[in-house]
Amino acid sequence: MRTRANSASAAALLAMAAATLGGCGKETNQSTTQPKVDIVPIGPLPKLDPQDPKVVELGKMLFFDGRLSGDGAISCATCHNPAKGWGDGMPLSAGYPGALYFRNAKTILNSAHASTFYWDGRLDAGDPDTQVRDSLTEGHFMNMDGRLMLERLKQIPDYAQRFKEAMGGEPSFGRTLKAIAAFEKTIGSAGVPFDEGKLTPTAQRGKALFEGKAGCIQCHHGAYFSDGRPHRLGLPPSPELAKDPLRAITLRSFAKFMGTPSFETLREDPGYFVVSKSPKDRGKFVTPTLRELVHTAPYMHDGSMATLEDVVAFYNKGGGDLPDKDPLLRPLSLSGAESKDLVEFLKSLSGAPVMVEKPALPAYEVSQNWWKTPN
Ligand code: HEC
Ligand code: HEC
Repeated sequence: MRTRANSASAAALLAMAAATLGGCGKETNQSTTQPKVDIVPIGPLPKLDPQDPKVVELGKMLFFDGRLSGDGAISCATCHNPAKGWGDGMPLSAGYPGALYFRNAKTILNSAHASTFYWDGRLDAGDPDTQVRDSLTEGHFMNMDGRLMLERLKQIPDYAQRFKEAMGGEPSFGRTLKAIAAFEKTIGSAGVPFDEGKLTPTAQRGKALFEGKAGCIQCHHGAYFSDGRPHRLGLPPSPELAKDPLRAITLRSFAKFMGTPSFETLREDPGYFVVSKSPKDRGKFVTPTLRELVHTAPYMHDGSMATLEDVVAFYNKGGGDLPDKDPLLRPLSLSGAESKDLVEFLKSLSGAPVMVEKPALPAYEVSQNWWKTPN
């Protein structure tokens, strides 16, 4: 799908991509198995679907409530903190206490527009309830036992009242997932210069590079700036992951759960391989959105790049040094000024910080059959 405005540059890119693929004999096999590059024009995000305000309010409280985690202290907002671009600002996520996670915590800003969830795309974003269940119950995220969680929620009369009014029944696991997912669907960018057509001349030049010479649009396209597909950029393995036994333990237990061959010996993040189990997908990660980058440093699945300048320098030299990189990557010969223009364009995809105050959370009041007689 292409609009008239973009068809010229998109066609030029397709020709360029074809030339790159054709020119590199080693990659021929891969090119035949790779889907054809179909570039969707970049543009403003569509409006978010409206959600029931009562369900959203309940979901917001649950999002910030540590009582939804095993130790009663970790909430979604611990790792998806509004003040940190709805991520945690760290290269690699700490994970649940006692475990250390092996990837960067992704932002949930605009995740209503994603096609898959997670760096490896292991979940379909059309089913956000399942994603919320994953966050709550996985030992490396919130380590919450479902029965214990429900019992906790039922002993908070204010929640019982809200579940009844907003969702028509007592606290249940399914309603909890739905409420949090509904809140999440309201967290979107606001005041984005690119969406409002307010690009500075520098950012305008950066946009032309993004769509042309730098070729970023080949993978970062559509309103969400992602093709939703896995690619290998050739990043070196994360040294943090290699040296920390706790991170390696989390990685291996996760890979085992995913049915990954030879999970026992993993020292590197296998990326999309855990999903497809196909060796050609080792080290591939799904193209992330480029929206709100100003608020979500550091970058990449392993948080290995501190600034957008670092990212552009990485692409300018043709990506990482590992073999079998994606054939769409090649040295770009961007001048210093052009690199700056491109960074300026990336920054124009970020709006004002999206802030949500932590709501006041209701207290436990343990009593008998209280839900039948709300005060
Ligand atoms: C201990 C930290 C932690 C907690 C707590 C946590 N998350 Fe996450 N979240 C992460 C990390 C890390 C990732 C990326 C994981 C990956 O790609 O393998 C992630 C990814 C996500 C994504 C995918 C975003 C995308 O675009 O791919 C969503 C949505 C999400 N979390 C929602 C939630 C919700 C809702 C909660 C609470 C129920 C929650 N998270 C609790 C760390 C956390
Ligand atoms: C071959 C497809 C492809 C091309 C071309 C491409 N990217 Fe990416 N981009 C990706 C993938 C895949 C990742 C995630 C890689 C990882 O985490 O290991 C990524 C990550 C990024 C990130 C980090 C985002 C974050 O939230 O951490 C930025 C910024 C970025 N790319 C910008 C660009 C720019 C600028 C260009 C053009 C110079 C470009 N990309 C070209 C596929 C691509």
